Amino acid sequence: MQIKKASYLISSPSFDKCPPPDRAEYAFIGRSNVGKSSLINAICGNEKLAKTSASPGKTQLINHFEITSIRADEENKGREKTEKWFLVDLPGYGFAKVSQSSRRRWEQMIENYLRKRDNISQVFVLIDSRHSPQKIDLDFLANLYKWQVPFSLVFTKSDKENQRTVSKNVKYFLEALKKQMQFLPRHFITSAVKKTGKDKILSFIGEMNEGEED
Ligand code: GTP
Ligand code: MG
Repeated sequence: MQIKKASYLISSPSFDKCPPPDRAEYAFIGRSNVGKSSLINAICGNEKLAKTSASPGKTQLINHFEITSIRADEENKGREKTEKWFLVDLPGYGFAKVSQSSRRRWEQMIENYLRKRDNISQVFVLIDSRHSPQKIDLDFLANLYKWQVPFSLVFTKSDKENQRTVSKNVKYFLEALKKQMQFLPRHFITSAVKKTGKDKILSFIGEMNEGEED
């Protein structure tokens, strides 16, 4: 699958202010500073699309991007299919410098969005591949599981550590997750700097878009 056009649409303070749910939606979430906005930019091939920052807490609202992609049409050989979908950049969790009240506001906004937005095809939960399993990520995933929101894992910043460490961290994370859920989700390993892993995520999105048509 190839992205033809990616443009910023709107930033919404709550689920009910989001654009009409008239197409499949793929949301990116994870700890503050884990690389959500950078990954969205890498996937779309546009470094300026989602705002990134070296200081955590940059993304505060539910940010919708409108994507137009093309893909080989399996039924019509030699033809291409055009698809339109939403990518969503969500504010991160676990940012130390926020008050108790804004943390609660974040939790409410995200829970409402994740549970009520019914065009969500998949939530990509980003995990920093440099670290051993963190409770904050495991707790967030336990909630997604409980709410029956479909999700996959994306281990980010894999360029910052050697491959052995990344593989070990991924293995330990999946082992920890296995203790709290019945199935293991799909996972991807990415680097927004080296642009690795993004094609696999794009083909997965393509597959899910196909599923939506049935
Ligand atoms: P918030 O919106 O604040 O929650 O952050 P975010 O998760 O959107 O992270 P963002 O994409 O803004 O990236 C945070 C920092 O990590 C920036 O300095 C990025 O340049 C850096 N970064 C993101 N992805 C990668 C990566 O794959 N490799 C490396 N080396 N740095 C990365
Ligand atoms: Mg961000």
